[in-house]
Amino acid sequence: MTSSDEIFDTLVLPYLNHAVRMYEASYASVTDIEAGMVFGCGYAQGPLTLIDELGAATVRDALAKRYAESGDRLHQPAALLDRLATEGGTFAELGAGADAPRPTFKRDIAKVGVVGTGTMASGIAQVFAQSGYDVVYVGRSQEKLDGVVGYITKNLDRAIAKGKSTEDDKAAVLARLTGATERAALADVDIVVEAIAEDLDVKLELFRDLDGICKPGAILATTTSSLPVTQLGAATDRPADVIGMHFFNPAPVMKLVEVVTTPSTAADVDETVKALCAKVRKVAVSCGDRSGFIVNCLLFPYLNDAVLLAETGVDLEVIDTAIKEAAGFPMGPFELLDVVGNDVSLAIQKELHAEFKEPGFAPAATLEAKVAAGELGRKTKKGFHTY
Ligand code: 3HC
Repeated sequence: MTSSDEIFDTLVLPYLNHAVRMYEASYASVTDIEAGMVFGCGYAQGPLTLIDELGAATVRDALAKRYAESGDRLHQPAALLDRLATEGGTFAELGAGADAPRPTFKRDIAKVGVVGTGTMASGIAQVFAQSGYDVVYVGRSQEKLDGVVGYITKNLDRAIAKGKSTEDDKAAVLARLTGATERAALADVDIVVEAIAEDLDVKLELFRDLDGICKPGAILATTTSSLPVTQLGAATDRPADVIGMHFFNPAPVMKLVEVVTTPSTAADVDETVKALCAKVRKVAVSCGDRSGFIVNCLLFPYLNDAVLLAETGVDLEVIDTAIKEAAGFPMGPFELLDVVGNDVSLAIQKELHAEFKEPGFAPAATLEAKVAAGELGRKTKKGFHTY
């Protein structure tokens, strides 16, 4: 039987190392890495704070032991971790005083468009409507539009049952939502957030179309988790107005939005989107247009490692329980894979593998097999667990 400590070392240490390398490479600030994992995944603390708590030397030594066994570069202690372990110092000190000033609206945002009718699009429409914005949401059929109202109604009913909302609030939120099956309904919105299929050709077609439909000055945002935002911008004649707003699942609950700027994104678009995030009570972090951004880049290799660990014969339930107990994460890796969807997880892992070319990021065979078998997670009632 593998102990909780061994499971923690196998799955969590490489994640910590990876976070150090992300900071070392100047991809993200200490604050944004920490906020990413706390507000995107519901962790009690981020990876760099966890290293400060455990002690850099302890983490470095445990990683060095794993590296001696595996020879995998992902386990080789990051140079900065080694330096902190040897010379002293913490990530809290490295990150101190680097907070960005409070963003303000540089463009007016009164009306929001959402494209898509899936879980993410429905959750995003709810977030804006709950914060008082009029929302036009566009789907391919009336049935799909009804699904969005059904999703939001269910969430609001649950809040009412818990005494956290009222029938009047629910009516007000629903009244701010207007469904449309034609994209032309987005002509007068101030920002569009798209959450349609994670397929580059499908999204490119949408962005070309939005470019023709939306009024000048409207911001075109994508919630893609794995496709290049730069390419979506380049499909339009207004790449300066194109930006990523990566929400997390479930969108009404998870407080994080990764704001992804491309080399062309205008500074006033970036600042306006960050101000909008604050207005809808989300925490914005800044990301460059790179595969996985902050959170998925740290999260999915850990989830993939969990699948690899299970392939060695360790029971799924044992892993899920150990991670919740030893690491304090809100969900075990297999519970989370089933929420995100194995198809989505596989696509993200493939992108990370392609971008970073780490052999250790190669998608686990079982993840591929689950997708091939149509066992995608909660949405198909069977993934790693059965529902
Ligand atoms: N939609 C709307 N609200 C929901 C919800 C849903 N699907 N699921 C739960 N909630 C609400 C509940 O109503 C409750 O609200 P309240 O506090 O106002 O009463 C609150 O969330 C907490 O729910 P519960 O008490 O029922 O359950 P938990 O305490 O187990 O919390 C959780 C649920 C917030 C989902 C928690 O398990 C969690 O934080 N999980 C981690 C999720 C995560 O890591 N997401 C990121 C995935 S990666 C991603 O999205 C990126 C993409 O690119 C793939």
